[in-house]
Amino acid sequence: MGHPRNGNWGSWGVRLFQLAALVVPVNGAVIEASNASFVDLLAENEVVITMFYRSWCGHCKRLKPEYHRAAERLAATKSKVLLVQTQDDALFKQYEIKMVPSLWVFANGKQLYQHYAWEFDDVYDFAWSFDALHLPVGFIYRHYLRLRSLYRFGLKAALKAMKLRADHPLQLYLPHVLAPALVGSVLVIVAPIALLLYESAKKARKAEDKEKKS
Ligand SMILES: *[C@@H]1O[C@H](CO)[C@@H](O)[C@H](O)[C@H]1NC(C)=O
Repeated sequence: MGHPRNGNWGSWGVRLFQLAALVVPVNGAVIEASNASFVDLLAENEVVITMFYRSWCGHCKRLKPEYHRAAERLAATKSKVLLVQTQDDALFKQYEIKMVPSLWVFANGKQLYQHYAWEFDDVYDFAWSFDALHLPVGFIYRHYLRLRSLYRFGLKAALKAMKLRADHPLQLYLPHVLAPALVGSVLVIVAPIALLLYESAKKARKAEDKEKKS
């Protein structure tokens, strides 16, 4: 007969564990989306960032822990941004994903634009801006981060091609100092122009609305 009670507790333990696995997203914070669940995820969350990945992709493996760390931090701050990941073929096809890893931003159910990420702050700062910053500052900051990460990505690839050793000062200096500085200085010129355009477009729209009403 053995120990029926132990057996019972054992199977309850397994069931509890299975239940928890359904409720708690994988790896603490990142949900693995399937074609079937994606529609609901989009409907239930204002902003969904989706990492399209493949198991064979080296950069995906490198990015994953950074992505998961960002998701955990966001979950802890009750962010309105949800980070998910998927390797579902139907979703790849539907959203025309051509390379991995690809981060795509979905807002209010719509596929907005691609984001680029190399490390934690590329993901976290970007997502954070949806919670903390409003238009037009949030918009400008997000696009600054997109450019910065893309530039950082290029620099990292170049450094790799140059076969510099991992602790070479340029490894830190180029991606972390030069990239933000360059992209930032371009933005110092572009941002005021963008702000002016935004304000004048807003004024024009208001005038139009007024005309329609009268
Ligand atoms: C994926 O989901 C969409 C929308 O829910 C559905 O129309 C489509 O048939 C699904 N595709 C597959 C291959 O399951």
